[in-house]
Amino acid sequence: MTKQIALVTGDGSGPEMMAQATRVTAKAALLDGVEIEWVDTPMGWKAFQQFGDTTPSEAMKKALEIGLIFFGGVGDPALDATIGKERPEMMPEPRALLAIRKNLGLLLNFRPMKLMRSLAHLSPLKTELIPEEGVEMVFIRFLLEDTYFGTADLRERVTNASDIGIKLKKEVTGTEEMVSELAYYRGDTVRKYIRAALEYARARKLPLISVDKANVMARYAFWRMIVQEVAKEFADVPVRHQLVDSACMQLFHPNLLRGVIACGNEHGDILSDGAAEMVGGMGLMHSSAVNPDTGQAMFESGAGTAPTLAGQDKANPLGRILTGGMLLRHIGAEKGATAIETAVHQILINGYRTGDIAEPGCEKLLTCSAMGEKVLSLIS
Ligand code: IPM
Ligand code: MG
Repeated sequence: MTKQIALVTGDGSGPEMMAQATRVTAKAALLDGVEIEWVDTPMGWKAFQQFGDTTPSEAMKKALEIGLIFFGGVGDPALDATIGKERPEMMPEPRALLAIRKNLGLLLNFRPMKLMRSLAHLSPLKTELIPEEGVEMVFIRFLLEDTYFGTADLRERVTNASDIGIKLKKEVTGTEEMVSELAYYRGDTVRKYIRAALEYARARKLPLISVDKANVMARYAFWRMIVQEVAKEFADVPVRHQLVDSACMQLFHPNLLRGVIACGNEHGDILSDGAAEMVGGMGLMHSSAVNPDTGQAMFESGAGTAPTLAGQDKANPLGRILTGGMLLRHIGAEKGATAIETAVHQILINGYRTGDIAEPGCEKLLTCSAMGEKVLSLIS
């Protein structure tokens, strides 16, 4: 079987990491008899330099049509500060990434994190804080609405937007006396999301930890009310409510965060970076964004593009490679997905490192491409 996947190699070190991730993913897919056909859909500042647009309409059209996207990450601080200042509408994160999330209705953002005793030295935590049996935390971030899309979605409904300082980003000049942004959650979307998170928690036999700020913010009080309502259908799944500030504190006591963590768009963005650092750093972060109704999905590692390492073959490709594993699991290529996870785990246990995760004096330091090669050699 041939499977088309839209490919955005992206900016910074994105293309280098994605070169490794695509070859590993393609090889692993063959274990399930799947031949992947990568369809190039250029986006980001690199695409701008070539086509004059950070999201050329052809590329976006094709990516949406295919509905399965392997996304290498876009954005570059140097270009954001120059071209991005002059042409703010071209900023690639909202124009490419957020637009795909919105257009495909990618509600569920899975960010799995596993803390293991055997890899304790990758974590900044004291080893004794990592339980013998490890800790599994699966973040399922609510990836739509909230502050990310609030202003753009609701602006039309506010009769006098300027009275309350509502600005779209491109209009913000820094001289306004007041800037406000809108955030919202729709009952139907939250219900669908919580149901999916509870189903996932049930399947994985993990409790659900719902993160909010219900003590002061209306949209989170609403969120909590819906969690309580939907949880009644899942009497077998333990559910806990955790305020976001204390959830953040618990990142340093991971035993307390064992479970499926349901959180809003903005909270999930922040907490998942903290959790990723705790289990070994952003270079290992992997992530998928899924529309639970249609199965359309984007596989984006959730980490940055390591712009300072671009062109030096130094970035860590393992997060992208693990993201490729999530892609395979999503399309039913189970053997390939497991092969990738096992290979990466083995490599880390054996002490191979890229610079970002290397301990001082590490003798098994690999380049980005050598790390890709190493994973590839274990896929068979
Ligand atoms: C993430 C990223 C994105 C987000 C950025 C690049 C827009 O930080 O996936 O976590 O904020 O969602
Ligand atoms: Mg983020």
